[in-house]
Amino acid sequence: MPEMIHRPRRLRRTGAIRALVRETRLAPENFVLPLFVCPGTNVRREISSMPGVYNLSIDETTNEVSAAYDVGVRSIILFGLPETKDAMASGAHAEDGIVQRAIRAIRKSTPEMIIMADTCLCEYTSHGHCGVVRDGEVINDESLELLALTALSQASAGADIVAPSAMMDGQVGAIREMLDNAGFEQTAIMAYAVKYASGFYGPFREAAQSAPEFGDRRAYQMDPPNAREAMREAELDYGEGADILMVKPATVYLDVLKMVRERFDVPTAAYHVSGEYALIKAAAQKGWIDEERVMMETLTSIKRAGADIILTYYAREAIKLLKK
Ligand code: PBG
Repeated sequence: MPEMIHRPRRLRRTGAIRALVRETRLAPENFVLPLFVCPGTNVRREISSMPGVYNLSIDETTNEVSAAYDVGVRSIILFGLPETKDAMASGAHAEDGIVQRAIRAIRKSTPEMIIMADTCLCEYTSHGHCGVVRDGEVINDESLELLALTALSQASAGADIVAPSAMMDGQVGAIREMLDNAGFEQTAIMAYAVKYASGFYGPFREAAQSAPEFGDRRAYQMDPPNAREAMREAELDYGEGADILMVKPATVYLDVLKMVRERFDVPTAAYHVSGEYALIKAAAQKGWIDEERVMMETLTSIKRAGADIILTYYAREAIKLLKK
């Protein structure tokens, strides 16, 4: 028998030894739970392509948030389905907009929860694009003012962190300036810095009723094959004052996530998006995979690649398992 000094299996022998040498650990504080707030009362409508995820009216949202807090969730991110939509997304920055009202209600009912607000226009525009549209094009600079007003209204309602996701050039700088001028220099910005034009957002567009009426988002979201360009996007947002840099989607862009982690010394976030969630759910419902195992393996891979913060529809389930 050949001499064999190194035997990696020695450290895999028991569960206790494996835990001793484990390199990556998920913690409840890593997770952010996305929630979709809709008009009405007592509304709890399941998204057909995202089993376990609901459109919730504000009263139901506050219940959900307090239940999530009890499980160990410490951060949420809010998306809104407004009563009405228009070309200029007025619902996005209305003082009594759906998300603004939800933020105030949650601040009261679960004061300790970290409240993040997605800052975008697509849920509020009649055409479903993330900015102002003219002649079939999304106009960058005119959208900045609306995005900044949206962030300001979210901050004044009590959001701890605003999260611009429209992929307009200069949006982080415009938001930072407007927040600072209004005295909200303590409101943090989590930039969706690297957001790809992805097929994995399909179920979200059902959940947020935000599918574009014409065309797609390829003229503002990033082209999936590009990674160097992602560094440019991250660099710009960092320079404009982003406190946290996000990569989205997560699992099919782990290489990009790792690059962002290595280059920028601000916290890194990754969004495990609706389609990534739906794939696991659907296969599990068919009995083809073990849902808990695949969920934890997936979330661990995102952390191992460098995410400090993971936005996921599985936040509650993952935290429950971690606490077992
Ligand atoms: C808003 C926004 C989207 C998502 C987060 N913010 C949709 C999009 O860009 O079309 C996707 C989240 C998910 O798929 O879970 N612009």
